[in-house]
Amino acid sequence: MSRFGSDPLSFFTTVYQNSAPWDIGAPQPAMAVLIEKFPPKNPVLDLGCGSGDLAIYLATLGYQVLGIDFVESAIKNAQDKVAALPHGTALPLRFHVADALRPSLLREKFGAVFDSGFYHLFNPGQCEQLIDEVASILKPHGCYYLHEFAIEFPIPNVPRNISPEELQKQFTVERGWRIKEIQTVEFRSQVAPPVPATCACIERLPR
Ligand SMILES: C[S@@+](CC[C@H](N)C(=O)[O-])C[C@H]1O[C@@H](n2cnc3c(N)ncnc32)[C@H](O)[C@@H]1O
Repeated sequence: MSRFGSDPLSFFTTVYQNSAPWDIGAPQPAMAVLIEKFPPKNPVLDLGCGSGDLAIYLATLGYQVLGIDFVESAIKNAQDKVAALPHGTALPLRFHVADALRPSLLREKFGAVFDSGFYHLFNPGQCEQLIDEVASILKPHGCYYLHEFAIEFPIPNVPRNISPEELQKQFTVERGWRIKEIQTVEFRSQVAPPVPATCACIERLPR
């Protein structure tokens, strides 16, 4: 069962009928710092891209970006933001409606996979499957960039706490991963003061 009820698509579609709380009009600041410290390789995939701020930021830096989300109105918002930018339509940027839990269905390989608030939506079993999916689409030495809640709220329909220890347990050398950086940072929203977050850059090792 999903953390967001029996129909998570309906849940997130309803959230996007208003301004989504996580839409801050820019990438999460700690993610921007991580991008500068560990420049991604092309092409880049943004899982659960929402209304596109991180994907647009990456494309304006010159990266070739695909953003996917399962909510049609979120993807439409992202496309509208691009169309409103001067020369936006010339950016190396695509947005598709797709299931970000199954990126292998895209039949593309990526030099970097971004996950800003996606992994933390899922229970540990679903996260294990997501990690296998990400492993299958990353090129050797490509990196998985994550930025997730590091706090647990005892209420339904919110993300779960992703600790550095969980990522260290999941992303081991034995499973073909090397953690380049894990930090405790802030997760910003437009509705509340910042909450603690875990931010990481994790390299896929050649097999
Ligand atoms: C917390 S929001 C983060 C949005 C964006 N990455 C950001 O940082 O602003 C999580 C996003 O994941 C999307 N999502 C949830 N489950 C999904 C799935 N199975 N496939 C694609 N998108 C999904 C939601 O629609 C939502 O846009």
